[in-house]
Amino acid sequence: MVVCRLAIDRRAPHTYTQTHTSHNQAMNAIDLLMNHRSIRRFQSKPIEADKMERILNCGMRASNTGNMQIYSIILTQQPDNVAALSKLHFGQGSTAPAFLTVCVDVNRYHHWCRLRGCDEPYDNFLWLMSGTVDASLAAQNICVAAEAEGLGFCYLGTVMYNTRAIADLLQLPKGVVPVVTLCMGYPAEEASLSERLPLEGVVHQEHYHDYSDDDIDRVHRQREEFPFNQEMVRQNGTRNLTEIFTKIRYPKKDNVAISKALLEFVEQAGMMNNEEKS
Ligand SMILES: Cc1cc2nc3c(=O)[nH]c(=O)nc-3n(C[C@H](O)[C@H](O)[C@H](O)COP(=O)(O)O)c2cc1C
Repeated sequence: MVVCRLAIDRRAPHTYTQTHTSHNQAMNAIDLLMNHRSIRRFQSKPIEADKMERILNCGMRASNTGNMQIYSIILTQQPDNVAALSKLHFGQGSTAPAFLTVCVDVNRYHHWCRLRGCDEPYDNFLWLMSGTVDASLAAQNICVAAEAEGLGFCYLGTVMYNTRAIADLLQLPKGVVPVVTLCMGYPAEEASLSERLPLEGVVHQEHYHDYSDDDIDRVHRQREEFPFNQEMVRQNGTRNLTEIFTKIRYPKKDNVAISKALLEFVEQAGMMNNEEKS
């Protein structure tokens, strides 16, 4: 059933209209971030429209390149459409009442430029990257707001595996590339906190300090000893955790095939015009 294991009150009053954040609110934000867990099973209860609107508005407030908002968000909530989309994500999110597909979108900006008699200069790799960053920041704002509202979510990287079919289903025009998908709803599971690398394994003081073998051992020790990961290694009969990733979850063969299909998609979407036209 329900699922709020956290000591913090996820239903804490929100003050979206306030201009200053109090110390208590800042502490709540830290607690919220430090207790994040991906949720993969959801109650059938739909997300209230006013709640969804608040969450989406939080996404809008994310920093973005030039304040141009080179992204669009496709919100899928009709059960038939959710089912079709979930199928394209290999059944992931099948219990979720909502999917959000965040896309790089130069189509809208170019249309505006055209109407105002300007060039359309954003159909290239730079803007694919910039739009991907912007889409990700908007998505993460949405995620944090969703958790603050008592919802759960999971990112679905499968948007990159089945991009063409997902784009067709969502009727995306040229210049629109789906890059981030979230399934979202009220949690129907108690997820445990997953492990992270220690800070010293990720943060470099002043310049990059390349890792010695001992550093690599030390930085990954906790991860390798994490009971869930040890169980995964045992169940799959692999030699170690890296083999789970490189042989089973994300092997080279799949990476190459998916990369090729993705590249073909962004070319067809008209986002790889990297030469200046004469
Ligand atoms: C870009 C991205 C893609 C992801 N894709 C999937 C996915 O396809 N399926 C899934 O179950 N989890 C997916 N996840 C969730 C990660 O597995 C999860 O964030 C990670 O294991 C850490 O767990 P936590 O979010 O509970 O802290 C994805 C996360 C990100 C950021």
